[in-house]
Amino acid sequence: MMNFDEVINNRESIRLFEDREVENSILSKIVEHASRAPSPANLQPWQFLIVKNKDLIGKIVDTTYSGLIKDSSPQSWVKTAPALIIVYFTPRYLVARVGEDGRDQGLLCTGAAVENLLLSAVNYGLGACWVGNFRKEELKKAVNLHRDEEVVAIIPIGYPKEHHNSPPKLPLEELMTVIE
Ligand SMILES: Cc1cc2nc3c(=O)[nH]c(=O)nc-3n(C[C@H](O)[C@H](O)[C@H](O)COP(=O)(O)O)c2cc1C
Repeated sequence: MMNFDEVINNRESIRLFEDREVENSILSKIVEHASRAPSPANLQPWQFLIVKNKDLIGKIVDTTYSGLIKDSSPQSWVKTAPALIIVYFTPRYLVARVGEDGRDQGLLCTGAAVENLLLSAVNYGLGACWVGNFRKEELKKAVNLHRDEEVVAIIPIGYPKEHHNSPPKLPLEELMTVIE
């Protein structure tokens, strides 16, 4: 197990995986960590769908696209992952509880859960990547989600085959201001 600094500093987007299964017991721990994220009124609107079936992984990858153009080629590297975690939430419950801002708040807290998940993966020696470029309605159809549900991320997860290290981050001076 790593200390917190190591976990944070070792997180990077991994886009190539070893041909090695990830046990469900580890995936369960990671989802448990994701579900520790904060949410409005503790509503926990998130759901985690784990897909290991190769045919379905192929169908999911077909809904992804590269770059900014929605009908460009799929991100085929995703197929090297032994598992995908589809993270989605149901805006309806939040909208009922907190009103119009419910959807945005659901999106925010589900994003926080995704980050917890990515960090937890690092702690288990796994790699992952937040994949957000997918055609939403097509993906929902592929995995049979209800029309009310909203997918936030596809997370390919597995043992990393290569490490590129994260691209450089902005220096602290450019993003932090202290008013005393
Ligand atoms: C909302 C969101 C969507 C993203 N979508 C994709 C994607 O579709 N494909 C991909 O390869 N990476 C995707 N990424 C990963 C970013 O490219 C990556 O985090 C960024 O380049 C910084 O690299 P690092 O994660 O290694 O620090 C996404 C990240 C976020 C937060």
